Amino acid sequence: MTTGHDLSGMNAPRWIVIQLTEACNLRCRMCYEWGKAGSYHHKKKTVALDYAVLEKAIRQCLSYKPYFGFFGGEPFMYPEVFKAIKLIKEGGCGLDIPTNGLFIEKYAQDLVDVPPDRLWISLDGPEHINDRQRGTGVFQRVVRGIHKLHALRQARGAKLPGIGVTFIVTPETHLCIEEFFLSTIDLSMLDHLSIEFMQYATPEQVKTFRGVMEELFPETENTSSCISKETSPNGLIAEGLIRDRADFSGMDFKEIARQINRVKEECGKMGIYFIAYPKTSEEDNIRNYFTASWEKMADWHKYCPFPWIYAEIAANGDVTPCHTQYDITAGNIYGESILDIWKGDRLKAIRNRVRRELFPICTACARFYADPSKH
Ligand SMILES: C[S@@+](CC[C@H](N)C(=O)[O-])C[C@H]1O[C@@H](n2cnc3c(N)ncnc32)[C@H](O)[C@@H]1O
Ligand code: SF4
Repeated sequence: MTTGHDLSGMNAPRWIVIQLTEACNLRCRMCYEWGKAGSYHHKKKTVALDYAVLEKAIRQCLSYKPYFGFFGGEPFMYPEVFKAIKLIKEGGCGLDIPTNGLFIEKYAQDLVDVPPDRLWISLDGPEHINDRQRGTGVFQRVVRGIHKLHALRQARGAKLPGIGVTFIVTPETHLCIEEFFLSTIDLSMLDHLSIEFMQYATPEQVKTFRGVMEELFPETENTSSCISKETSPNGLIAEGLIRDRADFSGMDFKEIARQINRVKEECGKMGIYFIAYPKTSEEDNIRNYFTASWEKMADWHKYCPFPWIYAEIAANGDVTPCHTQYDITAGNIYGESILDIWKGDRLKAIRNRVRRELFPICTACARFYADPSKH
C-alpha cells in the first residue's frame, strides 16, 4: 500500500513542533495536559527543554527549511522563548505559536520586534464561558493583550505577528461560538481563526493502544517520567485524553454546525483565514465525532501522512511523529541528532505500522483532521 503522498522530503521533517516546556499557569477544564483528567494534572515537577540542546536540534534542521511550531504547557513560560523565535526566523523558517494569551500584554513589544508568523491565542467564548473553562480573569487579560499587540503592530505598519484565535468546542462552549466571534470580540483585529472540537479518547481505545505499543516496542518502558500516576495509572500520556461519552450527550450538533458555518461565512467576507477541525461542519459529522462514531465521519480516513512529514519534540527531548501523542517515541534529542532519529529504526517501525493501520488513538489527534499542506 502506498501512503498517497510524496516522500521525497525524507531527509528531514518539513513541519516541526517543539514543546518548549510542560509548565502552564492555567488549569483549563478540558485540557488533556493540565485539566483535571489531564496527564500532567498532579505533576509536582515540570520539564523544559535545555536551550543548548534545543538550539542544536533547530540548527540541524534549518537548512531543510521546515515550518516550525511551538507548544506547551504555555510556550511563553519558557525563559528563552524569544531566543528560539529569533533563531528560527533568522534561519528563514516560518513559525506558529499557540498560547493561552496571558503573556501577550507583557511581551507585546517583543512580539512586534521579534515576530513569529502566527500567534494562535486560545479563547473559548464570551467572558463568563471562557473563564469557566479557562479560569477567572483570563478573558480580560487576554483581550487586553490582543488590543495592545494589535495597536503596536499597526503603529509600526507591520503585518507580523499574525493574530489569531483558537476556540475549543466543548459541552460548556458549544452554544457560544457565534456570540463570541460575531458579537464579543473585534474580528477585524484577527488574521486567522480556528474552531476545533475537544479531543478525547475512550478507555477502550487507550487500552488497545497500550497493547499496540507493547507489541511495537516491547523493550521500552512506559514514559511515566512525564506524567502523573493519578491520572495515568498505566503510565501512558494518552490516558489524559480519556473522557466519558456521556459528557457530550447534551450537545446540540445542529446548532454547532449552524454557528461554525455562520462564522466561516463572515471570515470569508472579511478575508480572515478560517480553519475548523474536523473540517466538515455538518450536523451528522459532528454527532459522529462527539458520540465516538469516528469511522462514520466524513473526515475519517484510513491513513495518516504525518509520520513522513512531521516531528514533534516533547519537553523531555522525546521525538514523535504524532501531535501530542508523546507515548509514540522515536528517539530523544538529548542522545541523538533529530536527523538520525528521523531516519532511525523506531520511526521506520512507526511508519510501517501506520502504513498498515492507524493507531487506536489517532482519532483523538488534531492532526488527524488537518490538511498536512496547511500549517
Ligand atoms: C495544550 S494548549 C498549549 C498552548 C497554550 N497553553 C494554549 O492554551 O493555547 C494547545 C491548544 O490545545 C487546546 N486544548 C486543550 N485541551 C484540549 C482538548 N481536550 N481538545 C482539544 N484542544 C484542547 C488549548 O485550548 C489550546 O488551544
Ligand atoms: S493554558 Fe493551554 S496547556 Fe495550560 S491548561 Fe489551558 S489549554 Fe492546557
